[in-house]
Amino acid sequence: MSDRSGLIGLDLGGTNIKYGVCLPDGTIIDEFIRQTNKDAPAEVILNDLESAARQALDVARQKGIAIQTIGVGTPGSVDVGRGYLKGSTPNFKSWKDVPIKEILERTLQLPVYVDNDANVMAFGEYRFGAGRGYQTIISITLGTGIGGGIILNGKLFRGHNFAGGELGHMSISYRGRKCRCGGTGCWELYASATSMLENFRRWSKGREASSTREIVDLYEQGDPVARRVIETEVAMVAVGVASIINIFNPEIFIIGGGVSEAGDWFIDMIRQRVQQSAMEQSLLGVKIVRAELGNKAGWLGAAAFAREEWLNHLNAENTRLLT
Ligand code: BGC
Repeated sequence: MSDRSGLIGLDLGGTNIKYGVCLPDGTIIDEFIRQTNKDAPAEVILNDLESAARQALDVARQKGIAIQTIGVGTPGSVDVGRGYLKGSTPNFKSWKDVPIKEILERTLQLPVYVDNDANVMAFGEYRFGAGRGYQTIISITLGTGIGGGIILNGKLFRGHNFAGGELGHMSISYRGRKCRCGGTGCWELYASATSMLENFRRWSKGREASSTREIVDLYEQGDPVARRVIETEVAMVAVGVASIINIFNPEIFIIGGGVSEAGDWFIDMIRQRVQQSAMEQSLLGVKIVRAELGNKAGWLGAAAFAREEWLNHLNAENTRLLT
């Protein structure tokens, strides 16, 4: 018999799927990671999500936890009501027009809720991390691309057609690089983890870094190329953060993704740059912090988001039956 109820969250990223089992209060029971087949057909990615969820379900069963809901965060624009991935995402080849909720509910026989990966990350920080107690929150995740999550007055802002909040596709250069989204000079082409790895390769004439963690380690050891990469990254991130602060004047700006897990110096450097360029009044009192949940924010947020959507759905059903 299961004596506790729990949640599963899955965070599909351009590099890895991060997922796990947690309790409704965010306590982590177990977590896992596996590689993303981002260039594979959509069926393969769906199979990977399903098999990840099954692994998490097995673990939950062994620990006597009954899973209530499964939450999924995915790049791209998601019709949240239908759990349907509408829009393509530039970092995946054929991941678009996928009825994620419908298929996973059929195969897993549990309620499944789906949202954009950066939205669920923002939600995770809002519920369990650095965003607790704040109502106007911007979060970004610096990964394969740059994802943006916007919480206004305690609610996720998704735009009128679920495609808003694409902060990584804000242009920072009108004659910059061409983005696969169709735009020019998109922020994510200059400030994502991908661009750090590219800059490192270019400036060290062929030396590869396997992760941003490696670049951070080299920076801390005084490597001059890593230093150039990090300084460029700080400048590129800061220029976007300052603009976004001027637009939203949030209470808190949360920076997540692998590189944000570098020492405090990384966020300190960004904060200093932003202070030099954002508008004085827009910046007043804004906290710029790193994601407290680190790389777990996405899957934990997906789990929490799914549970809340499900409870809302149950409440709405009850009200409907009673009236
Ligand atoms: C996509 C977003 C996604 C972000 C992070 C961007 O390229 O357009 O939808 O949130 O990458 O994965």
